[in-house]
Amino acid sequence: MKRQPFFQLTQSAVEQLAGNFETPLLVLSLKQIEKNYKFLKANLPKVKFYYAMKANPDVRILEKMASLGSCFDVASDGEINTLASLGIAGGRMIYANPIKTSSGLRACAQNGVSKMTFDNLAEIEKMAQTCPGATVLLRFRIDKSSAHIDLNKKFGAAREEALSLLKAAKAAGLDAAGICFHVGSQVMYADPYLHALDISREIFEEAKAEGLNLRILDIGGGFPVPEPKVKFNLSEILGQVSARLNEDFPNVEIWAEPGRFICGTSMNLITSVIGVNERNGQTWYFLDDGLYGTFSGVIFDQWNYTLISYKEGDEIEATFAGPSCDSLDILFRGRLTVPLEVGDLLLVPACGAYSSASATVFNGFAKTRIVVWEEVKAELGLEEALATAV
Ligand SMILES: Cc1ncc(COP(=O)(O)O)c(C=O)c1O
Repeated sequence: MKRQPFFQLTQSAVEQLAGNFETPLLVLSLKQIEKNYKFLKANLPKVKFYYAMKANPDVRILEKMASLGSCFDVASDGEINTLASLGIAGGRMIYANPIKTSSGLRACAQNGVSKMTFDNLAEIEKMAQTCPGATVLLRFRIDKSSAHIDLNKKFGAAREEALSLLKAAKAAGLDAAGICFHVGSQVMYADPYLHALDISREIFEEAKAEGLNLRILDIGGGFPVPEPKVKFNLSEILGQVSARLNEDFPNVEIWAEPGRFICGTSMNLITSVIGVNERNGQTWYFLDDGLYGTFSGVIFDQWNYTLISYKEGDEIEATFAGPSCDSLDILFRGRLTVPLEVGDLLLVPACGAYSSASATVFNGFAKTRIVVWEEVKAELGLEEALATAV
């Protein structure tokens, strides 16, 4: 199947934007957000989506997703309060952090958030106390994850404990309504989902035999964005997942919590070379955005960002570092690049997920400004910016 083109600025747009605004600059396409949401809806028609806003909580993305009818996966009282301040009702949120703070639970009670996930006994007591009668989903663990980021190392009950935990939740007066899993982030095969669905079906059957009628299955996030030189067919993967959902869970409400797929391809970073040095025979380039900023995903998301230069020449190996006065702030070592100079611009496409979301202001550097592509495009009369995924 033909790969979907996604938002990527052209060279002339990069140059014009850098001329009109200071770098570093993040450019966000809300049209790409909409395309991504509609793609998931079209390929998983049975599913109700909760955008995992931790991936990118930019208010304009939240408003766009809300206007499209999406629900939201929240991880903290801060996220609940942000959505509430935008007028988004608690009924459209799931508190999908298996370990909840008391301020998070209080925010649920205050804002009408009555859906949540859990994976242990202690949590049942906490939920029952602050949010009596809440609709709860038991999160189970996938033991062999092949995901880029394995979220099962930290969360998820052992499969054998699932039924007893659901029963304990029911006994505590909670609405033990279903189960959930997260196969991990950036999953490029159907198998991890199908494996998790096999386990889910077993748990549904066991629960039924014990008189517990489950009605909700939450398949989490994990849907991948294009990566250079990695081939996968997302429509095909989702087609297999969708077929299995129809077959094995015909009368079950299905939810999902996509984060990366919604926002990953929606943002481009324009960054400039601000310093060049030769150290022990290695060329170093210092950029105006770094590990404590948009490139925080190098550490927190283990992501290997693409750097596009518009210069020509024979490639050399170089080290790229951020602007802070801190020696951890090194982005890539031994990266092949054409030789660069101070003032050169670099484009980082598809950097919308787990990047600006985890940026800091360490060393006094402000977080990188984010402008909306559809607004600046009209203002500056720029051409459309789409590139086909490689
Ligand atoms: C509970 C939960 N749901 C959804 C997500 C989003 O995952 P992804 O960005 O891979 O779609 C995460 C990511 O950490 C998560 O912890």
